[in-house]
Amino acid sequence: MGRVMREHIITPNRKQITFFESDAKYTAYGGARGGGKSWAMRTKLVLLALNYKGIQILLLRRTLGELRENHLFPLLKMLAGIAVFVSTDKEFRFPNGSRIKLGYCDNENDVLQFQGQSYEVIGLEEATHFTEKQYTALTECNRISGSMEYKDFKPRMYFTCNPGGVGHDWVKRLFIDKNYRTNENSRDYFFIKSLVFDNHFLMEHNPEYVDTLKALPEVRRRAMLYGDWNSFEGAFFPEFDYEKHTAEPFMPDKNWIKFRALDYGLDMTCCLWLAITNDGRIIVYRELYEEGLIISEATKRILAATPKTETIRYTVASPDLWNRRQESGKSGFEIITKNGMKRLQKANNARITGWRVMREYLKERYELEGKPKLTIFRNCRNLLHSLPLLRFDEYVKEDAADTPHDITHAPEALRYALMSREPMFIKKSVPFTSSIYNFDSASPEDDEYESFIKY
Ligand SMILES: Nc1ncnc2c1ncn2[C@@H]1O[C@H](COP(=O)(O)OP(=O)(O)OP(=O)(O)O)[C@@H](O)[C@H]1O
Ligand SMILES: [Mg+2]
Repeated sequence: MGRVMREHIITPNRKQITFFESDAKYTAYGGARGGGKSWAMRTKLVLLALNYKGIQILLLRRTLGELRENHLFPLLKMLAGIAVFVSTDKEFRFPNGSRIKLGYCDNENDVLQFQGQSYEVIGLEEATHFTEKQYTALTECNRISGSMEYKDFKPRMYFTCNPGGVGHDWVKRLFIDKNYRTNENSRDYFFIKSLVFDNHFLMEHNPEYVDTLKALPEVRRRAMLYGDWNSFEGAFFPEFDYEKHTAEPFMPDKNWIKFRALDYGLDMTCCLWLAITNDGRIIVYRELYEEGLIISEATKRILAATPKTETIRYTVASPDLWNRRQESGKSGFEIITKNGMKRLQKANNARITGWRVMREYLKERYELEGKPKLTIFRNCRNLLHSLPLLRFDEYVKEDAADTPHDITHAPEALRYALMSREPMFIKKSVPFTSSIYNFDSASPEDDEYESFIKY
């Protein structure tokens, strides 16, 4: 029987060619989104498998789902009739003895499964999703295997990456800052900067994707559109500007909707009072920031700080207040409502989404004649002190660090507050306009109100 030849015509862009040509020990292709990094990674690995008889290749992503979507399906299509996929071993076997094994490392220790194995080439997709420990463990498997015919082949690793993620720091240190430790050799590391504009395929078929990247909040846009590795460093809210985001206090209009946000802790209670203006802006007009209050005392202090004439629609509070406390068997929620604060609403604690929402509020708005959607009164000193001091988390780059702990309370309360105004989290049945009702003095039936956010 004659052999069936399949012809694949590939048209790599300039950066992808540089990636194909690199035989450095460690090559990283990274930066912005959509530049064609994943395409380059799998195409390069297939080319290596075809060119070097018996080569052993490992291609890794952090999770199985990502691996499937991003590589397994495209590889099955690309390699139909060229290599056989053995699903029990999750590997493509080529007639020349080469092998591309697909793997994932969901947990820190999942890399141990590769211990003692040998792969001439390891491809680490989205390298910034891997910890430095995982990366180091993998370098130990990167060596000549028994089945490789070309014993002088230089083992190597290829990385693709976007800024952010648990591995941001080690990737940045090795490939961007080039800050090497004693046993690391600068010649081993080669970086190719990827930009979406390099990807002719995407620019031709889906030019709107660039608009999607342009519409991202400031910090993420800098990272994902321009591949800026410094955007996740320094101040967490670089867009915060005292001149732009603060105002001298005045009495909020009595018809504006008002609500509170509470971050309770025995170490610190932070409560913010917020009002929604007629043009949809949010004003933080009062704060309470006090150490050492037990829950019942904190509740009383908050109620006392709320003038009787002020209508508070609801109070959004940390979800952990709904857990029962071991000592009393009661939840914080129960104690707070018993002490007279009604309409308590469980905050949505999706941190990264919440911080993104906050960035949106800090942006200047065209529809508001260049004003941002958030204003903080200058009497809210603790919130104004904390916001500019907040830093990026060392490990989860889109999250804020939780140290120093004392500056996290007020921003967290603000995050709860803004998340409670996101349309998908507002219960439809709450009439938006009814305001002449002081919920603090509402009847106990209102307690059932606590479950009005769905998760
Ligand atoms: N040279 C090419 N020829 C044909 N299609 C390509 C080429 N380069 C990239 N593509 C296609 O462009 C799209 C985006 O590419 P890819 O997924 O590789 O980008 P990426 O840089 O990995 O993106 P992300 O940052 O989101 O991971 C994919 O559909 C991919 O198949
Ligand atoms: Mg990719």
